[in-house]
Amino acid sequence: MVGKLVAAVSFVVLSACLAAGSALAAPGGIGPPTPETPSGEAISRLYWIVLGLCAVVFVLVETALILFIVRFRRRRDTPESAEGPQIHGNTRLEIIWTAIPAIILAALAIFTFTQIPAVQARGVEDEAHLTVRVEAHQFYWEYRYPAGETTVNTLYLPVDEPVELQLTGMDVIHSWWVPALTGKMDAIPGRINSLRFVPETTGDFEGKCAELCGVQHAFMPTTVTVLNHDEYESMLASQQETLALGKATWEGACATCHGLDGQGDVGPSIAGNGTLTNREGLDDLLHTGQNTSQFDYYMPPVARGWPPEQLDALMAYIESNKTLSTAPPTTTGGGG
Ligand code: CUA
Repeated sequence: MVGKLVAAVSFVVLSACLAAGSALAAPGGIGPPTPETPSGEAISRLYWIVLGLCAVVFVLVETALILFIVRFRRRRDTPESAEGPQIHGNTRLEIIWTAIPAIILAALAIFTFTQIPAVQARGVEDEAHLTVRVEAHQFYWEYRYPAGETTVNTLYLPVDEPVELQLTGMDVIHSWWVPALTGKMDAIPGRINSLRFVPETTGDFEGKCAELCGVQHAFMPTTVTVLNHDEYESMLASQQETLALGKATWEGACATCHGLDGQGDVGPSIAGNGTLTNREGLDDLLHTGQNTSQFDYYMPPVARGWPPEQLDALMAYIESNKTLSTAPPTTTGGGG
C-alpha cells in the first residue's frame, strides 16, 4: 500500500519535473509570449492574475487535503471496519464554503470584464484605423488591404497605427492567432469577425491557425511584419509586383500541399502538369476544387475570392519557373 503510494507520487512528481522543462522553454515560459501591444498586455495581466488566484486556491486545498489525510488516518489500533463520526449538517461551514468560491468567481468575472476594452483596443475605436480583410483558406491566409493590395501569409502593418482585421473563412472555420499581438479569433465562412489592436513594436511576429481545419492545419502559419510607415508603404507596393504576388500565391495556396517545386506532398506531384499553364483549366480547377470519387485527392477551392490579377500573377510565376512549367521528360519504356 505504502509502496504503491510512493510509486504513484514519485510518478506524478517525476512527470511534472520532466514537463516543466518544455513548459518553461516555450515563448514566455509558462505564460503568454511577451506582449507587444496594449491588447497583449491586457491578456497577459489577466492570465497572471487568474493563474495567481488559482495557485493560491490550489495550494490551500492540496495542503488541507494532505493534512487531513495524515491527521485523520486510521491508526494501527483502530479496526479496519471502524467508521469515523457521522456528522449531519454544519450550517456555518456550508455557508463559508459556498460564499468563498462565489466571491472569488465574482471577483474574477468583474476583473475580466474590466479588461475587455483594453484587449479589444476599444479606446481607439473611433480613431482612423487601417482595416485589413483576412480571408482564411485551406491552407493559407490572404490579406486584402484598403487600396486592393493583396499579400499571402504575411500581414504587413505600419507601427503605432490602430488596425482592425475583418476575418472570414473561405471554406471551413479557421482561427487567426498571433499570441504576441492579441488573442485568437475565428475566421468563419459567411460572417465577419473583427479583431482590433495597435502594433507598437516593429518586427516579425509569428502566429498560426488555431482551429483544426484539415490535413495541413498544422502547416498554416502566418507572420505579422510591423514596419515604420514608409517601409510599410514601399513593402506593400513591392509585394504587388506580378512575380512577387505570384510567388507568394504559389507558396501559400499551392506549395503547402504540392511542395515548393510541385514535387508532391500531401497533394500529388504537379510539376510540369499541363493544367498549370492552361489559364481556363487552372481557373476552373482552382475555383471549384476537386472532391469526387474518381480523384484520389481532395483539393480545396483555393482561389475563392481571388481578383483576376492574382491568377495572372500565379501563372506568370509558374511560367517564370521552369521546374513548374516544363513537362518532365517522359520515360519511354522499351518493347511497348
Ligand atoms: Cu486553418 Cu487550421
